[in-house]
Amino acid sequence: MVTENNQVIIRTENLGKAYPLPGNDWLRVFEGIDFELRAGELVAVMGVSGVGKTTFLNIIGGLDRPTEGRVFFQGQNLWEKTPVEIALLRNRYIGFVFQFYHLLPEFSALENVAIPLLIAGRSREEAMEQAARALEEVGMGARLDARPAQLSGGEQQRVAVARALVTGPGLLLADEPTGNLDWKTGEKILQLITDLHRKKGLSSIIVTHNERIARYCHKAYLLEAGRMKLLEGPAG
Ligand SMILES: Nc1ncnc2c1ncn2[C@@H]1O[C@H](COP(=O)(O)OP(=O)(O)O)[C@@H](O)[C@H]1O
Ligand SMILES: [Mg+2]
Repeated sequence: MVTENNQVIIRTENLGKAYPLPGNDWLRVFEGIDFELRAGELVAVMGVSGVGKTTFLNIIGGLDRPTEGRVFFQGQNLWEKTPVEIALLRNRYIGFVFQFYHLLPEFSALENVAIPLLIAGRSREEAMEQAARALEEVGMGARLDARPAQLSGGEQQRVAVARALVTGPGLLLADEPTGNLDWKTGEKILQLITDLHRKKGLSSIIVTHNERIARYCHKAYLLEAGRMKLLEGPAG
């Protein structure tokens, strides 16, 4: 198990996002967010539907541009980089897990997990070998050839977790990873994510509207009325 240290992985400074609306109006999603994720931490971001959790995660992960403030990824100003630099950084250092898995339907589990490795320039053999190992690690070693449609929701999310981690990223961003699953399956996915978090020494942010998840985490934030609040104390 990797112990926590004080290295800051993600820091936001006065982060704000507004979307333009028709006319001259803006939809202000959030503002003034100072958030910090340190090495080895597992942090929950909670809040009701529509409050801006996905927007926040996408900005941290280099998928959506902030309208105010800055994001520092290991001390580097993320949104000062070029789109190509940001894409490279995402491929190398960030693993994403989404609520609806986002697996490519026409590809097998093995191929879905191999794709980030192929994008990173690995050979096909190496990519397939490493993808198979990643699928074994999430308990899907017997389903390498299955298409997403042949898998249950929980199984698809396992494949998605393998895909997120196959390139060995240090940062895991999970956007409501259990939001589409029944309670028991969701528990198993959370267990899987927290186990992998520890085993691989990840720094992780799990976005959820489900309070139950907070007890797996070191810290929990609540996004509410456009502001981010740190909730009292670490979870037990
Ligand atoms: N691309 C977009 N253009 C305009 N409004 C958006 C866009 N993406 C999200 N929103 C709006 O921003 C708010 C926050 O959305 P989101 O981050 O998806 O919330 P959550 O993930 O907490 O449910 C919502 O009101 C949503 O409709
Ligand atoms: Mg969302």
